[in-house]
Amino acid sequence: MKTLQNFVVSAAVAAALLGCAAPKPQTQPGLKDALSGKFYIGTAMSSAQIIGEDTLAIAIIKQHFNSVVAENVMKSEVIQPVEGEFDFSQADKFVDFATANQMHVVGHTLIWHSQAPKWFFTDNDGRDVSPEVLTERMKTHIQTVVKRYKGRVHGWDVVNEAILDDGSWRESKFYQILGEDFIKLAFQFAHEADPDAELYYNDYSMAYPGKCEGVVKMVKKLQEQGVRVDGIGMQGHMNMEFPTYEAFEKSLLAFSALGVKVMITELDITVLPSPGQNVGAEISLNYDYQKEINPYTDGLPDSVATALHDRYAGFFRLFLKHSDKISRVTLWGVTDAQSWRNYWPVQGRTDYPLLFDRHYQPKQLVNDLINGTL
Ligand code: XIL
Repeated sequence: MKTLQNFVVSAAVAAALLGCAAPKPQTQPGLKDALSGKFYIGTAMSSAQIIGEDTLAIAIIKQHFNSVVAENVMKSEVIQPVEGEFDFSQADKFVDFATANQMHVVGHTLIWHSQAPKWFFTDNDGRDVSPEVLTERMKTHIQTVVKRYKGRVHGWDVVNEAILDDGSWRESKFYQILGEDFIKLAFQFAHEADPDAELYYNDYSMAYPGKCEGVVKMVKKLQEQGVRVDGIGMQGHMNMEFPTYEAFEKSLLAFSALGVKVMITELDITVLPSPGQNVGAEISLNYDYQKEINPYTDGLPDSVATALHDRYAGFFRLFLKHSDKISRVTLWGVTDAQSWRNYWPVQGRTDYPLLFDRHYQPKQLVNDLINGTL
């Protein structure tokens, strides 16, 4: 090390004596540099990125993002597929990557009705377990996972999607068996396991007034009970019309008024026609494929690309306006090729929802943000 230092110093001295600048490492400015001091700019990492296969995307992540979240590998069905049998192989790789690159790490997600293994809620006869058994299972799951990454995962999506669009409680197994107390328990278990980790509630379609009110009410109640909630994640699964900027801003301000951090999580904007009345991110929805709802298989017409750019620009202007309230903006993936929008809520479509295209090229918005020309 000493030798290396001496060499660097001598090289710099020699360069100075020769009248030329010491060689500097080549670093391209990225989104994280442009947004530094405003909020973290994050991305979800797919399995292919976590295991190191998607090398071009990894280069983009290192250049542009200073926060990461795992798209799937920290969900309970992956981490504890069988009771008591934990599989941390990919989660470990994900956290190692983030730590090595000094990134802000978000754990997603501890308690969610979806992508949870069936055993979590049932006994050997397939019947619902008692409240006591479910509480114990939640505790074991949450504490095993959070303790493993203590000090390395900085914030956890403790509970995901517990409130419906009208503000009522989702009738998930957690809710059916434990009532609304499951939220309080989840936050308490996570806090006990790592008192320094930030704890978040995360949900989609938060711009609906009913949903916003429901979440505000729930978080207020937790705060009154002395439960620590550090932030609210507004999932940004959007389309070209929903939500309006006004409605989104209203919810953002309502959450911030609770005294918690607001995060824009899971940002992606679909340009494809929505089947049914679908907006938001209800992952149980699944519509049949039809050619008419997959119109851009050969590329995005310029007019649509411009409209998408403008829609993204409108949201980023809003985020920058409220950067004192927003701690992080996280895209739900790196390139259009990997996005779940290509397979949800309809399999086999071609969508363009992210900031980098299928050829790993930045879209105009990236350049606008870096050049400060938004
Ligand atoms: C999605 C992933 O992107 C997909 O790969 C997976 O098949 C389903 O889940 N809300 C969430 C995310 O909190 O975890 C979901 O991610 C998208 C909706």
